[in-house]
Amino acid sequence: MRLGILGSGLMGGKLGTIFARAGHDVVFSYARSRKKLEKLARDAGKNARAGTPAEAAQDADVLLLAVHWSRVDDVLRQAAALSDKVIVSCSLPMNAGDTGLVIGHHSSGAEALAKKVRKARVVSAFNTVPSEVLFGVFEGRRRVAKPSLVYCGDDPESKKIAARLIRGAGFAPVDLGPLRMARYTEPFALLVARIAYEGKGDPALAYRFERFGKRGRR
Ligand SMILES: NC(=O)c1ccc[n+]([C@@H]2O[C@H](COP(=O)([O-])OP(=O)(O)OC[C@H]3O[C@@H](n4cnc5c(N)ncnc54)[C@H](OP(=O)(O)O)[C@@H]3O)[C@@H](O)[C@H]2O)c1
Repeated sequence: MRLGILGSGLMGGKLGTIFARAGHDVVFSYARSRKKLEKLARDAGKNARAGTPAEAAQDADVLLLAVHWSRVDDVLRQAAALSDKVIVSCSLPMNAGDTGLVIGHHSSGAEALAKKVRKARVVSAFNTVPSEVLFGVFEGRRRVAKPSLVYCGDDPESKKIAARLIRGAGFAPVDLGPLRMARYTEPFALLVARIAYEGKGDPALAYRFERFGKRGRR
């Protein structure tokens, strides 16, 4: 697939590198310096290059949105042509101090994003794990018990694309249903972050869902 990374920091930089090394064409965009984007692209290998958000969006099959909530409008404006694009968003609707969600209970960042880009197809994914886990999980992806990674969205085709990326990053995708399920995954992401960064373990924290009962015995 052709992937445009909108926001090339901890999440976008790491996921873009994983996707490029897995054989997808990746354009890294949106950092404070062009040099950083070029270095990321060099380190990610021959399938990666640096570009502007507009270049990242131009021919992309899928865009990964990975900016702070306060930068979402700016990067969407720069990306410009988003009609019909699949946008996989790992951005959480955090306040400026990153201490809490600014949207919750009756809506979610993912739904607010879908309203901003009505012609795009938004999937919420990759935001319920700390960035530290990404390379470790990718390297251990052949292990039988893969960690789970939840995703949700309203468009079945976009969700298939997201599930493929999630699998490629070493996780077992867990489809939670419609985009409004992000109302529950976004606070859950905060819980995971609290345990990862304030708990006794370390930030390389991933989780696993297990289903008991009839379906679990298959
Ligand atoms: N990090 C995690 O573990 C984690 C986990 C779950 C969800 N998330 C969510 O994922 C999203 C991205 O998080 P992150 O940790 O990857 O953030 P980050 O490391 O700060 O990356 C954000 C990117 O945006 C760029 N940027 C910021 N301001 C800019 C500006 N004015 N002009 C151009 N580029 C600018 C940054 O540039 P520079 O590279 O130059 O700084 C960086 O590349 C957030 O919504 C966060 O809530 C993060």
